[in-house]
Amino acid sequence: MKKDNSKPIGIFDSGLGGLTVLKEVRKLLPEESLVYFGDSGRAPYGTKSADTVRAYTRQDIAFLLSKGVKAVVVACNTAAACAGRDLLDSFGVPVVDVIGAGSELAVSLTSSGNIGVIGTSATVASGVYERAVKALLPGCGFYAKACPLFVPLVEEGWWDDEITYEVARRYLEDIGDVDTLVLGCTHYPYLEKVIGEVTGGKIALVNSAKAVAGKLEQTLEKEGLRNKDGKPVTEYYTSDSVEKFSSLGKLFLGELGGNVFRADPEDFT
Ligand code: DGL
Repeated sequence: MKKDNSKPIGIFDSGLGGLTVLKEVRKLLPEESLVYFGDSGRAPYGTKSADTVRAYTRQDIAFLLSKGVKAVVVACNTAAACAGRDLLDSFGVPVVDVIGAGSELAVSLTSSGNIGVIGTSATVASGVYERAVKALLPGCGFYAKACPLFVPLVEEGWWDDEITYEVARRYLEDIGDVDTLVLGCTHYPYLEKVIGEVTGGKIALVNSAKAVAGKLEQTLEKEGLRNKDGKPVTEYYTSDSVEKFSSLGKLFLGELGGNVFRADPEDFT
């Protein structure tokens, strides 16, 4: 049966942070239509138990499938970490996640073999990045640090604030001789400047949003799902206030370039 490559790509995150992924996907695949779901009504995911986040992830993907998507991007590191590949591979469409993409890029960039990851408490506690990186580069050095205060600082728009520098210094003071650091949370690309300066400009920072966009492109090509001459439409859905999503979304993206609608993921299983 011929595949319908004109269908949109679904992208979801616990909230607005995944717009960093949408931005990179749009840059790389400008002809593709996108459906973005931000689960702000149930965010943050990073402080919740793995079972709860796994259940949310199942509903988020079911919601996107109800919109007819041909592939799904799990932009949320915490969702991908807690869901696991068994769940992500069970939906009948390709599901690409930030963790595999970010780990592969980190391994390709390191020269010392000392790799680090920063993320939410749930992502770091899951150990998923450590397993992914060590499977690709056995025997490598590994550093992980939960940085829970970074998400609210980004959402506050304090991307270049002295408080953010101080918080980053406290979190990263023990980073040691890591030469490659995965920004393992969708919000963290907004703190690249702060993290880069605090770590002395000597560490390669892996923006997993860019990495996952590349992985998505490869997957669509491989599956014969790439749309190269579409008239792209973007739709946004949020489980919280449409007005709040729209105003914060503009802070994150500049222009949204699409309409925002309310959705309730609990209606989907
Ligand atoms: N979007 C989440 C991630 O990438 C972080 C925000 C949250 O805790 O919900 O891990």
